[in-house]
Amino acid sequence: MEKVELKPGIFWVGVVDWSIRDFHGYITPRGSTYNSYLIMDDDITLIDGVKLNHADTQIKRVSRYVDMTKIKNIIVNHIEPDHSGSLGHLAKLCPNATFYITDKGKKGLARFFDIEGWDMKVVKTGDTLKIGKRTLAFVETPMIHWPDSMMTFAKEDKVLFSQDGFGQHLASAQRFDDEFTQCSSWAELEDAVWDYYANILMPFGTLIKRKIDELGTLGVAPEMIAPVHGIIWRKEPEWVLNKYMEMAQGKTDERVVVIYDTMWYSTEKIAHAVVEGLREEKMDVRVMSLKANPTSVAMKEFWRARGCLLGSPTLNNHLLPSVGKFLTSLKGLRPKNRIIGAFGSYGWAGGAVKQLIEACDAMGLETVDPGYQFNYRASSVDEEEAFKYGRSFALKVREYHKQF
Ligand code: FEO
Repeated sequence: MEKVELKPGIFWVGVVDWSIRDFHGYITPRGSTYNSYLIMDDDITLIDGVKLNHADTQIKRVSRYVDMTKIKNIIVNHIEPDHSGSLGHLAKLCPNATFYITDKGKKGLARFFDIEGWDMKVVKTGDTLKIGKRTLAFVETPMIHWPDSMMTFAKEDKVLFSQDGFGQHLASAQRFDDEFTQCSSWAELEDAVWDYYANILMPFGTLIKRKIDELGTLGVAPEMIAPVHGIIWRKEPEWVLNKYMEMAQGKTDERVVVIYDTMWYSTEKIAHAVVEGLREEKMDVRVMSLKANPTSVAMKEFWRARGCLLGSPTLNNHLLPSVGKFLTSLKGLRPKNRIIGAFGSYGWAGGAVKQLIEACDAMGLETVDPGYQFNYRASSVDEEEAFKYGRSFALKVREYHKQF
């Protein structure tokens, strides 16, 4: 196994999950990684576990560097099972280790494992741990991503072990941003950041902003950011910090995404006409058919655009289920600072377009009411009207975007 060294004496001992495509319902077309780190100092310290079915790989990697009975500290930054799954094995293999964890982490971990007999020390923001020539500082980051979460800062090396924060679901043979972008593009890496933030961290923008400010106040100025998913920010930690701050403040592109599904291709025909209207106004447009794209990919495009046009025909007085699923996910992610319109066909009674507008209103999003609906077949007159609707929506998005 290749040795991956972040800084002298700090090693990556995680796992690349090349095959995961469904991460508790979040579709991950690029796979993921579960990163874990080993610090070789007077008191050997392991940071984070991995998913249970990959425990063997983590143990094998760690064992390349150290007899595991010599591990003195295990830092548990986050207890979600993709990072705590291997802790049961580690507790057995590292009998001399103390676990460092937040109070909520300890209580939560007791629901996942029988922790009787584990030596556990609760830490909070401001606490430090001297492990030899290094000092580790802990910063609680509740709800980024769970209530238990914290980050650990290796002060002398200036490495921030940021658990879920600044991660990406991105399996790759490269471990660092500068390596990855030599083989792939920066655009692909940036897209993975947007995707991850949209599907996991979107509800926590206010907290994220506050935490990034707090890191500054605490003197945490990382030269390297090592998350638990994806590549490590060795060359551009500032870029990802700034990107998170921008997203938390509602910044995105002046762009519209059209997200729709269709029954008999009437709504799809109107989606095409709406796109033509948007383009007529020189608006940047993405189109997401929910037949062709999973919810999570559409969600990323939603988050990257200032405006969204949602399309659904009416089925039994309701939304098409695929569009309803998207809306349910969106509601849970508590979006902000986006403007929404809607369109769709109906037969004998409408309902879908009104429901789309009302649902987005209830989420606190800006909406353009009424949406555009039409009976049965999309006639050439309907297409012309939809084209105009697209044009007028583009102008509204452009105006709305000016405030950000
Ligand atoms: Fe990657 Fe919240 O776990």
